[in-house]
Amino acid sequence: MIAIGCDHGGYEIKTAVISYLKEKQIEYIDFGTDSTDSVDFPLYAYRVASAVSRGECERGILCCGTGIGVSIAANKVKGIRAAVCADAYCAEMTRRHNDANILCMGGRVIDSDTAVKLAEIFLKTPFSGGRHEKRIEMITAIENDDLTL
Ligand code: RB5
Repeated sequence: MIAIGCDHGGYEIKTAVISYLKEKQIEYIDFGTDSTDSVDFPLYAYRVASAVSRGECERGILCCGTGIGVSIAANKVKGIRAAVCADAYCAEMTRRHNDANILCMGGRVIDSDTAVKLAEIFLKTPFSGGRHEKRIEMITAIENDDLTL
């Protein structure tokens, strides 16, 4: 199950990604917003991040104007590794190396075709594990204020 959400700045690319998910019969929960009317992105970021953090959804996709605001908000939630991506290389590497669980994109930065392509890469690419495991553990330790300096 994929959690997806956006603010007004990300509404158009979120709509394109949802069309892709429907076409591929990938199950998703849309946490809003439902139009281009102005809203506050932290609410939607929190809804998606909470669903991923609780394990109700395996991964999340968040869209705002730049992708940055939703990523900052989502990364405040325990267990979330949200990555802003604007190109295919980063979308792939943030799965392989960072085990990112939320992809953040900007509707004022990339077009809908690019957003769909990045979502596809993000959903298909596995975590590489190996030497990257320890680094993920260190990030989790920071979250728990437990990383040895
Ligand atoms: C909304 O205007 C805009 O600030 C928001 O979509 C996002 O880009 C914030 O980071």
